[in-house]
Amino acid sequence: MKQFLVVPEIHKLNTFDEFYNEFNVNEKDLILTIEPIFDTYFKNKNKKFNVIFPEKYALGEPTDEMIDRIFDDLEKIDYNRVIAIGGGSIVDIAKLFVLKKAERSEQLFLREAPIVKEKELIIIPTTCGTGSEVTNISIALLTRKNTKMGLADNALCADQTVLIPELLVKLPYKVFVTSSVDALIHAAESYLSPKASGYSELFSIKAMEMIIKGYIDVVKNGQEYFRQIIEDFLVASNYAGIAFGNAGCAAVHAMSYPLGGVYHVPHGEANYQFFIEVFKYYKKKQPIGKIQEIQKLFAGIIGCSEDSSFDELEKILNNLLSLKPLREYGMKEEEIVGFSENVIATQQRLLGNNYVKFEKEDLINIYSKLY
Ligand SMILES: [Fe+2]
Repeated sequence: MKQFLVVPEIHKLNTFDEFYNEFNVNEKDLILTIEPIFDTYFKNKNKKFNVIFPEKYALGEPTDEMIDRIFDDLEKIDYNRVIAIGGGSIVDIAKLFVLKKAERSEQLFLREAPIVKEKELIIIPTTCGTGSEVTNISIALLTRKNTKMGLADNALCADQTVLIPELLVKLPYKVFVTSSVDALIHAAESYLSPKASGYSELFSIKAMEMIIKGYIDVVKNGQEYFRQIIEDFLVASNYAGIAFGNAGCAAVHAMSYPLGGVYHVPHGEANYQFFIEVFKYYKKKQPIGKIQEIQKLFAGIIGCSEDSSFDELEKILNNLLSLKPLREYGMKEEEIVGFSENVIATQQRLLGNNYVKFEKEDLINIYSKLY
C-alpha cells in the first residue's frame, strides 16, 4: 500500500515582502487574491500585475459557472505562474487555472475532459483551515447537480506552498474559528480513515494536539488571544492538510456538502455541525477499534476520561462556535431523505474513507438527530 506523498515544497516566511523578493514576483505571474490583500501588499510595488479577484465574479464558495467566467477572462492574459493568496475558495479555484482549459469546468470535475497541468502554482493560505495548499483536491459547487464535488488529481498540486503568519494576524475571529475547526476535522477524519498510514497519523495527531490545546488557551485567555498563537494554527492546518491529502476525509465532510451547497453555510461551520455526532455514531456502530484510540488521544490532550472525551471536546468547541439545529440554517424536514440520497449518490469518494460503512439509513439517522 502506498504510504505517503507531499508534492509541494513547503516554505515558512515572516513577511509578505520576504516572499515577494525571494520568489521574484513579476508581471508574468497571475495573482489570485482578494482586493484588501492586493491593496496592502502589491499596490506599492510599481509593477503592472495580472490580478483576478474571484469575489468580483460571485460571492461565496466557488461554483463551476464562476470558474468558467474566470477561465474566459484568462484567455486575454499571458501568464506562466499562478500565485494564489487567500482562503479555501481562492486556493481551490487557483488549482484549476494551471490546467488546460476545458469547454466547461464541470467537465474537469466529472473527468469528461483531460486533466493536464500547463502552469506553475504557488499557494499562500490566508486562513488556518483548508490545508488545500498541500492537497491535490479542488472543490466546487456544480450548479446543475446542485452539490459540491471534489476533483482529486496530482496535477492540481502546488509546486510551492508558502506559510506567512503575518497574513493571518488580522483574521476576523469567526473566520479563525470556522477555518481551524475544519482543520481539526481534517486531522480527525483522516486519522480514522482506512487509508491512514503511520506517516499520515503523525501529522493528524500533531495537528489535533496543536489545535485543541490552542482552543483551550483561547477559551482561557479570551477571543483576541488567537492572534498571538496564529502561527501554531497555520502550521497545524498545514499538517492536517498533509494528513487528509494522504488519508482522506469522510462522512463529516460528505454530510456537510448538501447543507453548504444549498444553504451557503461556510464550509468549516457546516462541518462542525456534523463532527461530534458522526464520531459518536461511529462509536455506537463499532465501539471496538480505532475510535478508541482517538478517544484516548482527545482525553490525553484535554485531561478527561476516554469515555467523556467526545462530550468534553464538544464543550470546548461550543465555547468558540455554537451548534445549531439544521433547521436554523433553513433546512427542511423533507430534505433529510433527499440530502441522504444525494450524499450516497455523489460523495462515495469521501464515504469510502469512513471508519464504518454508512448506508442511506445511517445518514438519515444523523440528519434527523441534528435537524
Ligand atoms: Fe474541509
